[in-house]
Amino acid sequence: MHNMSTASLRKDHDLIEKVIKAMESAIQLLIDNKQIPESILLPVIDFSKNFTDVCHHSKEENSLFPALEQAGMPRNMGPIAMMLMDHERSREIGKHMEESAKEYLSSGNSQRLINDMKQYVEHITEHLWKENNRLFMMAEARLQYVSEKVDKELNEIEQDKLKETGKTREHFEKLAEDLSRNISKQGN
Ligand SMILES: [Fe+2]
Ligand SMILES: [Fe+2]
Repeated sequence: MHNMSTASLRKDHDLIEKVIKAMESAIQLLIDNKQIPESILLPVIDFSKNFTDVCHHSKEENSLFPALEQAGMPRNMGPIAMMLMDHERSREIGKHMEESAKEYLSSGNSQRLINDMKQYVEHITEHLWKENNRLFMMAEARLQYVSEKVDKELNEIEQDKLKETGKTREHFEKLAEDLSRNISKQGN
């Protein structure tokens, strides 16, 4: 079992990875000149924006990072500063990806979408790796005595942020499940 201070975040990462896998398949289909319908692209955008950015990144920025600062890690340099920059970058690429998805759906031109999705997948994959294998390990070691408090905060922020998006965790779990299923049907 993972330490409670990161359990909820590691669970989010598993869900994000599932969507990233579906995106990798979508990129390959586009490269092979297959069509990707709106019913696949719109959930990808919804998830990246509302779950990964609004919900998951807020949990880290509003609870985990401040707890680490309290435990003596600086915010303006080192791993926290790097993670904050990564979040900002994923927001930027996400915006581009949303625009190029719209362009693709209206014109059929897939080049920009392929590039943006590739960048997004690469960036998020690296970011999750850094957190899973570096930052979360440090957090698990440093936040032992406040892990219950952090876990409680993470769950509260998740509730608040999901409410903001008007969606539920079940919505995003089902979205990831449907996406994996639909993308594997798409190749046939
Ligand atoms: Fe992060
Ligand atoms: Fe994360």
